[in-house]
Amino acid sequence: MDLGLKGKVAIVAAASSGLGKATAMELAAEGAKVTINARNSEQLQRAAAEIKSATNAEVLAIPGDVTNEEDIRGLIAETKERFGSVDILVTNAGGPPSGSYTDFTAADYRKAVELNLISTITLCQEAIPLMKEKGWGRIVGVTSISAKQPVEYLILSNTARAGALGYLKTLSQQIGAFGITVNAVCPGFHVTERLRQLAASSADKEGISVEAVLSRNAASLPLKRLGQPEEFAALVAFLCSERAGYVTGTAIQIDGGQYKGLF
Ligand SMILES: NC(=O)c1ccc[n+]([C@@H]2O[C@H](COP(=O)([O-])OP(=O)(O)OC[C@H]3O[C@@H](n4cnc5c(N)ncnc54)[C@H](OP(=O)(O)O)[C@@H]3O)[C@@H](O)[C@H]2O)c1
Repeated sequence: MDLGLKGKVAIVAAASSGLGKATAMELAAEGAKVTINARNSEQLQRAAAEIKSATNAEVLAIPGDVTNEEDIRGLIAETKERFGSVDILVTNAGGPPSGSYTDFTAADYRKAVELNLISTITLCQEAIPLMKEKGWGRIVGVTSISAKQPVEYLILSNTARAGALGYLKTLSQQIGAFGITVNAVCPGFHVTERLRQLAASSADKEGISVEAVLSRNAASLPLKRLGQPEEFAALVAFLCSERAGYVTGTAIQIDGGQYKGLF
């Protein structure tokens, strides 16, 4: 299937490692010009070089923090300057720390909301006018399975990401008429630095190894294995494609079957 991504301009936020980097790699492999962002400039440049050498695509690396509005404005403006437009936006960020309701103050919730909800809103607000100009756009919001089925030890993530799903769904209804689709993806356990950090925190509390926590995570799933970032990226690339033009307003889990609900 030709995804129709050749020559499209994509921004993937938080993309120097893990799910974001794999997504940028997949879009670049499909022929898109890609801008990637993350805070640590050195790691970001390394990711850009890796994507370029693997795909031959044009890759722009713009360091910045998605919780900083100025950085987001710069990300969109520099992409427009270099590539002429923005067709595809993948919103993404790091994840908040694990813990339960006794562990956090209102300030911690504000930080999580800034990281996983407000950053999504700001990225969309800045990119939508450029997509409207072209009458074509794809927005994919990276959230988490925790937005659909709260994870017991991730109260900050559960709370902030449910808001992101509400925002993205509303947006899909309001900007569909401009040829812009908006979808959310809800990943479960994928092998990334974030998953290892969460596993290390559980391992520490329980006095077991990180590998034991990861094996337990895998065993808890119907597919009995953890996801690979490349598997996640394939779903996002499809949602960003020309071929997915009639898919909007969805929140699709990619979780090895972790989600227990019907819809
Ligand atoms: N992996 C999973 O199993 C899983 C499951 C469900 C949900 N998720 C969610 O999916 C998202 C991506 O996770 P991941 O597993 O790919 O994590 P990861 O491997 O730790 O990568 C996170 C990426 O985000 C960047 N980043 C973090 N905070 C940022 C900020 N404020 N501004 C800009 N960039 C930022 C990091 O670079 P810098 O640190 O240099 O900024 C890095 O490139 C997270 O929100 C995570 O919670 C992951």
